[in-house]
Amino acid sequence: MGLINKILAVPSVWDLSQFIFGCNKEKGQLYRSVIKSPGKLLDFGCADGNTFPLFAGFDYYGVDTNEKLINLANKRYKKFRNAHFIKADILTKPFPEKYFDSILFAGTGHHLNEQDFYMITRVLINLLKDTGIIYFFDIIKDPLRDFKLLNFLISLDQGKFIRTENQYREIFKNMPDKLKIIKERKINFKRLIPTPTIYYAVLRKLPS
Ligand SMILES: C[S@@+](CC[C@H](N)C(=O)[O-])C[C@H]1O[C@@H](n2cnc3c(N)ncnc32)[C@H](O)[C@@H]1O
Repeated sequence: MGLINKILAVPSVWDLSQFIFGCNKEKGQLYRSVIKSPGKLLDFGCADGNTFPLFAGFDYYGVDTNEKLINLANKRYKKFRNAHFIKADILTKPFPEKYFDSILFAGTGHHLNEQDFYMITRVLINLLKDTGIIYFFDIIKDPLRDFKLLNFLISLDQGKFIRTENQYREIFKNMPDKLKIIKERKINFKRLIPTPTIYYAVLRKLPS
């Protein structure tokens, strides 16, 4: 799988793979239908800024460790004064505490092992204002959609930690910094090629 990962690291190939398999259009509509109130938004794991065009009225901050993708995002959206793209590891806390009204945590969970997932979620809670919201979206293992073709496509994905809906629910319920799940749903996009089920949860930070 090393070669596939190398090929997918090329920004234009990543873009194309997102367009074909990543359901960029459907994902965008889903994110925007859930995230309604503008404000200071952190897009954690923003990649090449593929979701930025959805958030015209927001003060948008995208963070990613991948320098090539961040450079591409900065180049592509340089005319937008509300767009800020930063190359950083979120674990280094590149923003002050309680800086954001909301955080988009999308498509990145299944790239994180258990320990990183916990540590990163704790950092994200720290970066949120009191009663701020984390919007979590990710592909999940869904026993109702156990098709050979779908499983093959999922096996090509770079993320190796695809969880179930229940596993995510348990992780969020056990967060010591107190997150409350205020809404959750499973979504299936209707396409000719089968696509993975997406789980989303709206998580409110409880004031400490
Ligand atoms: C699959 S992409 C997410 C795509 C996008 N958010 C979406 O919904 O389409 C996951 C991204 O998370 C980034 N990432 C993983 N761990 C990170 C960390 N600790 N800090 C910042 N970015 C990270 C990776 O570099 C990668 O570009």
